[in-house]
Amino acid sequence: MFDAIAPRYDLLNRVLSAGLDQKWRQRAVSEVRLGPSQRLLDLCTGTADLGIAAARRHPDVSVFGIDFSGAMLRLGLEKVRGARLEPRVRLVRGDATRIPLADGTCDAVTIGFGIRNVAEPALALAELARVLKPAARLAILEFGQPRIPGIRTLYSWYFRYLLPAVGKLVSHHQSAYSYLPASVGTFPPPAEFVKTIESHGFVNVRAVSLTFGIVYLYIADRSSR
Ligand SMILES: C[S@@+](CC[C@H](N)C(=O)[O-])C[C@H]1O[C@@H](n2cnc3c(N)ncnc32)[C@H](O)[C@@H]1O
Repeated sequence: MFDAIAPRYDLLNRVLSAGLDQKWRQRAVSEVRLGPSQRLLDLCTGTADLGIAAARRHPDVSVFGIDFSGAMLRLGLEKVRGARLEPRVRLVRGDATRIPLADGTCDAVTIGFGIRNVAEPALALAELARVLKPAARLAILEFGQPRIPGIRTLYSWYFRYLLPAVGKLVSHHQSAYSYLPASVGTFPPPAEFVKTIESHGFVNVRAVSLTFGIVYLYIADRSSR
């Protein structure tokens, strides 16, 4: 599915979020508190927007982006080259549940709108605890559902009807943009996902609501033991 929608993925992100998606990624980058010469893993990197944002903000940092969609990565690589961020940003094809990195080699991890799509998120979280250094930071962006009643109704109409229709028209994919609201609907609520993260070796876990809860930013520190 991600291979098929890759050519229009960035365009649809900008249009469907009215440009907010890049602000949400910037916020995730600022929460991982990267220091000089550190290494960030951007898991489920897709077309590398998060990795590129991190590399631009921190000229010293190296970014390792992993995704299993070759088409998304190819577009990401073009952007990385266009931004002259090679070889500081490296993109590698791989599975979130079998990260091709040694234990304790990452200073921080970001995941932008990816964990919901991983078939076995618990395995991915266990892998993240393995590759992160003790006390290193994890920041996960994922869609949520607004709690304020009027906004919730309006957003739910947009997300369930308008977004899939525009997504189908622009991406020419029958189901990808209907899958989006469906998968958000089955993703655990913030309090539950916080517990899931905690149960995989993370501490100080919290869910920060962004833009009325349309998106949640999960922030956690790898336990120091
Ligand atoms: C919605 S896109 C998010 C891309 C990017 N992080 C962003 O902020 O736009 C989700 C990405 O997760 C990737 N993905 C899903 N499951 C994966 C897995 N098990 N291993 C690696 N990548 C995965 C997909 O290929 C896709 O590129």
